[in-house]
Amino acid sequence: MSMKIAVAGTGYVGLVAGVCFAEKGYDVTCVDVDEKKVEMMRQGHSPIYEEGLEELMCSNNAAGRLHFTTNHQDAYRDADAIFIGVGTPELPDGSANLSYIAQVSRQIAESVEKDCLVVVKSTVPVGTNDKVEQFIKDFLVHDVKVEVASNPEFLAQGTAVHDTLYAARIIIGTQSRSAEELLLKIYEPFGLPIVSVKRRSAEMIKYASNDFLALKISYMNDIANLCELVGADITDVAKGMSYDERIGSRFLNAGIGFGGSCFPKDTKALEYLARHNGYQLKTVEACVAVNNRQKTRLFYKAQERMITFNGLKVAVLGLAFKAGTDDMREAPAIDNLELLLDQGALVYAYDPKAVMRSQSHFPEGAIKQGSITYVNDPQEALRGAHIAFIFTEWPEVKAINPVTYKELMHTALVYDGRNLYNQGKMLEAGVEYYSIGR
Ligand code: UDX
Repeated sequence: MSMKIAVAGTGYVGLVAGVCFAEKGYDVTCVDVDEKKVEMMRQGHSPIYEEGLEELMCSNNAAGRLHFTTNHQDAYRDADAIFIGVGTPELPDGSANLSYIAQVSRQIAESVEKDCLVVVKSTVPVGTNDKVEQFIKDFLVHDVKVEVASNPEFLAQGTAVHDTLYAARIIIGTQSRSAEELLLKIYEPFGLPIVSVKRRSAEMIKYASNDFLALKISYMNDIANLCELVGADITDVAKGMSYDERIGSRFLNAGIGFGGSCFPKDTKALEYLARHNGYQLKTVEACVAVNNRQKTRLFYKAQERMITFNGLKVAVLGLAFKAGTDDMREAPAIDNLELLLDQGALVYAYDPKAVMRSQSHFPEGAIKQGSITYVNDPQEALRGAHIAFIFTEWPEVKAINPVTYKELMHTALVYDGRNLYNQGKMLEAGVEYYSIGR
């Protein structure tokens, strides 16, 4: 009989993990407290947009390997391994909110009727796995052995399924040989490099990796701002740097700063962890400070040129925190929209995927001193606009011909936070064009 796996939480981490385990042949049950979400998944609809996810979800469900339930007891009772993929949102002080982890741990303790391995996939502060193990032991109802392992997730949104099935590495953190062996066995069918370390090191690898990438972006944004002042071009600078294998060619794109559900949260959480341990993590602190400034730099630059946005038609191209996702968590577009609406701008916003999400932050109609209207194609946003902002690197936006800006806009004035266009071509088309670090 194939191994039984339960997964707690059906967000990006949990659902993708569950689907991929089923794809590898395991019998998987995904648990979520949200009845509506569970019903939706049973009907074959993924609650999040991820390339390939819905298809794999349906095929594995049809093959009888993937189930969805709100009944945690049924799912955990006889599972060989239970993966925890619930959220660890940020608290106001920058620390991680572990209440969902605690809730699931308690449910596990009260449900399991045979020995099992609990695997924490959620990003949690170093030392949390120790606490989860103790917590579960404290609440165990049956006389069984439960161990806890760390198995951090490195998937990026938009490429989640691919990043899971073809991960660069699998990190497993365990405190016993038996836990290590079980996890090695679970991941064997993936055929990927596995790094097996102690639990606390595994927890740290996740933060150290994410914060390193965030640092890389903030560093490039810092250098980009300096490039503007001294007449260098960040695109050329990045290209020149990228040939050095020690630097690498990825995550060198300067822009309006990083957003999303991970980098902003994980930088603050590590900063908090350091402070809590009496240490000041100066590099990560600087990374956060640079990012905060970067998010609205373009707005302030435009404000100097415009004096005010009151009553102006402002085209906003892109709302999601990056292309390929409908997620707007910590998206730089939010900070910019707030400033624009404060000033009375009449915003016409286009995004191929994130409009629904944006409506929960900024409902269509009058907001603050201004208003927001969502449109279905970029041309509608641009028609008659006094200024355009680009916040997301969508291919649909990149595909707009420079001449279109000139033809459609009242004033062909473009502030591009993603360096999507060739400056010469924009100039040739008669567009006044500003970007980052060039
Ligand atoms: C990230 C990590 O990549 C992933 O490994 C981890 O598990 C979760 O966090 P994600 O948040 O989905 O994934 O997006 P990512 O593609 O890494 O981009 C994060 C932010 O950085 C986005 O706002 C993006 O626009 C920005 N970014 C990225 C840049 O500004 N420049 C770059 O060169 C790369």
